[in-house]
Amino acid sequence: MKTRIDWVRRNCALLSSIEEEFASTRPFAGKTIGTGIHLEPKTVVLLLTLQRGGARIVATGNLNTTQAAAVQYLRERGVTVFGGPTTQFEEHRLNLEAVLDQRPDLLLDNGGDLFDLWRENRYSALLGGTEETTSGRMRLEPLRGELAMPILVINDSPIKQFAENEHAVGQSVLEAYMRITNRITNGQRVTVFGYGACGRGVAANFRAAHAKVSVVDLDPVKRLQAHLDGYDTPRRDAAIASADVIVTVTGRSGVLGPEDLGLFKDGVVIANAGHFPIEVDAKAIASSPEVDRRDLFEDAIEELRLADGRVLRILAGGHMVNLAGPRPMGNSIESMDLGFALQARCLEAVAVGRVDRGDCVVPVPRAINEQVAEAYLKTCYS
Ligand SMILES: NC(=O)c1ccc[n+]([C@@H]2O[C@H](COP(=O)([O-])OP(=O)(O)OC[C@H]3O[C@@H](n4cnc5c(N)ncnc54)[C@H](O)[C@@H]3O)[C@@H](O)[C@H]2O)c1
Repeated sequence: MKTRIDWVRRNCALLSSIEEEFASTRPFAGKTIGTGIHLEPKTVVLLLTLQRGGARIVATGNLNTTQAAAVQYLRERGVTVFGGPTTQFEEHRLNLEAVLDQRPDLLLDNGGDLFDLWRENRYSALLGGTEETTSGRMRLEPLRGELAMPILVINDSPIKQFAENEHAVGQSVLEAYMRITNRITNGQRVTVFGYGACGRGVAANFRAAHAKVSVVDLDPVKRLQAHLDGYDTPRRDAAIASADVIVTVTGRSGVLGPEDLGLFKDGVVIANAGHFPIEVDAKAIASSPEVDRRDLFEDAIEELRLADGRVLRILAGGHMVNLAGPRPMGNSIESMDLGFALQARCLEAVAVGRVDRGDCVVPVPRAINEQVAEAYLKTCYS
């Protein structure tokens, strides 16, 4: 029987054709690419595509998202993978250090961890690389002076913004909520914190699932956009107090914490879809003296009973909900194929010297966006 990874490989049309091309052009011949990215079926396909381009790949996962089958599949195909599934920051950091100890020529970073760590233990062979996320871009921008090498931010491509962040994250967060809780969305009051590309998709998908959605954003311009898109935009406290479901997707820390315990509606379900498990301070909430009882249900649901009888449910301990719970699939294959085609093309551009140190923490070049868009459209209309 073929595996899910084989299914994903078969449906990544863009990466398959890039893989074929790379097998003859070999843009990474003699080079090592280091990465710390969610290790799941779609990233497996990306890493194997880069390998076909001549790269030696050294990898580790991200916190709480590494899938054992993905690690095994990669190892069987000659990829060096450090560590396995973990939720421990310290263990994760040691795995990232192990990747950098291999002195990669290029980094495919996800959250800025590797470039940040490189500053503590510099070596001159590093040519540059890519950063996948918004959170990573925010972390690396202030470090431009120190990094001074080409780093292309995949997240800032318009393709990544609409294909993955908006459409695919929105769909997969709704899918994860239903898969983990198996609860109704119709008529539920859902509050989405953050109305960036991801928040827009999350709000739209819950609305399409017949929930009553409100949006909280610190930025009045985003609140206006949400308002004109037809969502309620109540004050933060009122939005929390009325919500049956709260999803955070801001990229910022401390969005919800123990200081909000007085506000939550009885039975509220709280999930985070932002990259890092920092948006909902799940640990501080659970250890608050107001919590009388904690029940852990299978499939990553924690229920907290407060002294006044109200109940709160937190999904996946505040880790990214769409890569948590039973049989997590993450975003759709095609949306990731698009984003990873951008990754492959950007790493190629850095490897062959098509970008330079002036391109440090900048969006994907327009020519690459156009190349990837044309390639995808060709798969739909040929
Ligand atoms: N789950 C996934 O599969 C997935 C995929 C892509 C990105 N992400 C992550 O999702 C997060 C959001 O990404 P994005 O591209 O939408 O970011 P973005 O920067 O475009 O939008 C974030 C929004 O949150 C708002 N915000 C910040 N702090 C807030 C607060 N305390 N309360 C309310 N609003 C607040 C900002 O004003 C902004 O409008 C990031 O962490 C990103 O890495 C997750």
